[in-house]
Amino acid sequence: MENEQNGNPVTVEGLRKSFGAQAVLKGVSFSLARGQILSVLGRSGTGKSVLLRLLIGLDKPDAGSIRMNGDEITELGLEKLNESRKNIGFLFQQAALYDSLSIEENVEFPLRRHRKAGEAEPRERAHQLLASVGLEKDLNKMPSQISGGMKKRVALARALALDPSIVLFDEPTAGLDPITAAEIGRLIVDLSKQRNMTSVVVTHDMHAAKCFSDRLILLSDGKIVVDGTFEDLQNSTDEFAKRFLSDCA
Ligand SMILES: Nc1ncnc2c1ncn2[C@@H]1O[C@H](COP(=O)(O)OP(=O)(O)O)[C@@H](O)[C@H]1O
Ligand SMILES: [Mg+2]
Repeated sequence: MENEQNGNPVTVEGLRKSFGAQAVLKGVSFSLARGQILSVLGRSGTGKSVLLRLLIGLDKPDAGSIRMNGDEITELGLEKLNESRKNIGFLFQQAALYDSLSIEENVEFPLRRHRKAGEAEPRERAHQLLASVGLEKDLNKMPSQISGGMKKRVALARALALDPSIVLFDEPTAGLDPITAAEIGRLIVDLSKQRNMTSVVVTHDMHAAKCFSDRLILLSDGKIVVDGTFEDLQNSTDEFAKRFLSDCA
């Protein structure tokens, strides 16, 4: 399906999005190579979640182009969009588990919904996925019976259920203690590398961004002010970048 010119799974060009008079994204462009892990940094309210929502077509941009696995997301009708989304995993900021379903059933849900002939039994596959995030012993628990870190793991297993080639994570470590946050960060990297997934990770966690991503972008006032390695961020002469780093130190 990677039929676009540059072969990159994610290419965003000139993305703009306003809500009423508030311009949130004012021209955002970047392109990710297969297997890359990108961290998206920026103050609360800069439009990081808006960016992720645009990438999976939950919202439409006012201008700009979004190509995911070669599909121009901004131009797809609902049916094609749903097809394209099967290749894109999404981990919501609030793990967003179904409270009335067990852990096992939460992970089975997308598998039952999109089951193709000849594929492994959803239950079996859910067990494998839950084992890959270290939850093989907790299959029958309900979301209310598990910790915040475990909920993130379940959400991670569910996001990976359809074997997506691109995964978007919205603050996967927010609200977790530092050790659990580091474990989840490590898990995301390990699973991304094993599956050669292209990952976009919105995070407040500078430590995670530094340790776990190949590349990061810093958003400020609707634009990308740094795009590069953590070192590039440290060496940036941009005033906001300097302030952002010193506030986090
Ligand atoms: N559906 C919406 N309607 C109006 N304003 C919105 C909507 N979604 C986001 N915004 C605004 O866009 C800005 C960026 O939001 P968001 O992307 O959630 O920030 P963050 O970087 O913290 O994830 C905020 O000021 C938010 O209030
Ligand atoms: Mg957000």
